[in-house]
Amino acid sequence: MSYGMIFTPDWAVTVLTGVLVFLVTLYFLQSRDKRKSLPPGPFAWPAVGNLPQILGKDLHIVLTNWAKLYGDIVWARIGVDNVLIVNNMNLAKETMVKHGRVFSGRPKKRKTVEVLLGDGTDIAMADISPELKFHRNTIHSFFINQRRSGRLQLENIISIEADSFSKTLQECCDRGIDFDPKLEISRVVANVLCQCILNQRFDRIDESFEEQLRVIKDIIDNIENFNIVDVFPWLERFPIPSWVRFKGSLARLDQWLSRVISEHKDTLQSDHNRDLLDMLLNMQLEAKAENDEEKIRMLSDRTIGHIVHELFGGGIESTTMAILWFMIYLMHNPEWQDLIANEVLDQYGEDEIPSSFDRRTCPQLEAAIKETLRLACVLPVGFPHRTMKEVNVRGYKVPADTMVIVNTWAIHHDNKAWHDPYTFNPERFLENRDEKFSYLPFGIGNRVCLGSSLATMEVFVYCAVLVSRFKFRPPDGDKLPELKANQDLLCGLIRSE
Ligand code: HEM
Repeated sequence: MSYGMIFTPDWAVTVLTGVLVFLVTLYFLQSRDKRKSLPPGPFAWPAVGNLPQILGKDLHIVLTNWAKLYGDIVWARIGVDNVLIVNNMNLAKETMVKHGRVFSGRPKKRKTVEVLLGDGTDIAMADISPELKFHRNTIHSFFINQRRSGRLQLENIISIEADSFSKTLQECCDRGIDFDPKLEISRVVANVLCQCILNQRFDRIDESFEEQLRVIKDIIDNIENFNIVDVFPWLERFPIPSWVRFKGSLARLDQWLSRVISEHKDTLQSDHNRDLLDMLLNMQLEAKAENDEEKIRMLSDRTIGHIVHELFGGGIESTTMAILWFMIYLMHNPEWQDLIANEVLDQYGEDEIPSSFDRRTCPQLEAAIKETLRLACVLPVGFPHRTMKEVNVRGYKVPADTMVIVNTWAIHHDNKAWHDPYTFNPERFLENRDEKFSYLPFGIGNRVCLGSSLATMEVFVYCAVLVSRFKFRPPDGDKLPELKANQDLLCGLIRSE
């Protein structure tokens, strides 16, 4: 063999193939060794992990199919992130309650979140820390006080909105038009938050209301679903349409928040809080008077703005969707529509607005709402968490910085826990059955939803008014709405006799 042959293309291809085979074998052997201490899960490709199996599909359905193959606890990779998927109620308690502190982080900040937060912090995307505890406690006690302050404040606000809701629906009935209820439900849901937080309300849906909803939704969508710039941060220098739109929404959000904060500061009184924003601004003034550096930082204008925005973002879409799903399920189950209407009418008559504090007076309505939250599962995979350090779960060594997804969809449709889990059957919440415990619509543990009691009050009152005063059905000649997420719902309304 002459030395000249060493550099022939054939030889080079052989060497390259050999190196490639060696590297791939090494990768498989190493990942097999690493995987020995990890839960079972689907094969993950180098660099992209399990993204190809997930992209363009409903995440909760893919994860639930994996649960059927691999069990209650599943290991996967999304891009370069390790992911632990929790598919069962006992395991959700074990991770989120027993090991609550370890499992209460949020995924590391991506480009969208970094740009959104700037030098401020927030609640939903912050890791567990004394600062988060301070923010959560502040908001929690504000809502508790709203309920306590004479049972009036919050309850009055909800009743007034329910009345305004009923009047708008009556107008549709009178005009005999078919009607998409989503915007009107969003208006009354947003109004409760607007009054508690900013002491404002929208009388009707106008351009500024729709614009505000669009901005909030666009930002939430970008945070919930990855923007391409999260995957390739260098793209931020280029005019990528989704990134340009996101930055535009951020600019409009900043403008709106700066305006409401400065209007509140101009009319602030130290001895009277009109709303949550007043309360936070007065706490900021106190911190400044006491020179309390820590609190001044925790109550910066930017952080206050993020918290306010997050309460709207977390509260409007989820509560609106819960009420819409209730309507959809009752359209599919007219016998329940009649049963519940009679129950509410027997208790409250035609004109009284039910009290959100007396939910036990209408057990069938309450059961139907719970069944709606179970079946429709408004947030089917919750918000992702992150492990703050290495932890042992069911004999598996879960590393620090693992993203953790609680697959609420699988928990709510677990056929070991629920009989016939895909059927709408409020009876399961009426009878004292064990099955009702595989249920966590608002999450569990340190990061449980901050608006769960407000949402429960609102959903109860709005659904009671809807079902007792109107019958809802598909527009004449139309089929029943499909039972799938993110659809537009057009329905006809008839005044109840
Ligand atoms: C039916 C309506 C609602 C549902 C189904 C719902 C559900 C949830 C869920 C599943 C989580 C995630 C829990 C976790 O990370 O483990 C959450 C978090 C949160 N929710 Fe709600 N929610 C609703 C209404 C509301 C309302 C009305 C508000 C505001 C007043 C709100 C504010 C929040 C906030 C701020 C968080 C983040 C908590 C944290 O990260 O510590 N939610 N919600």
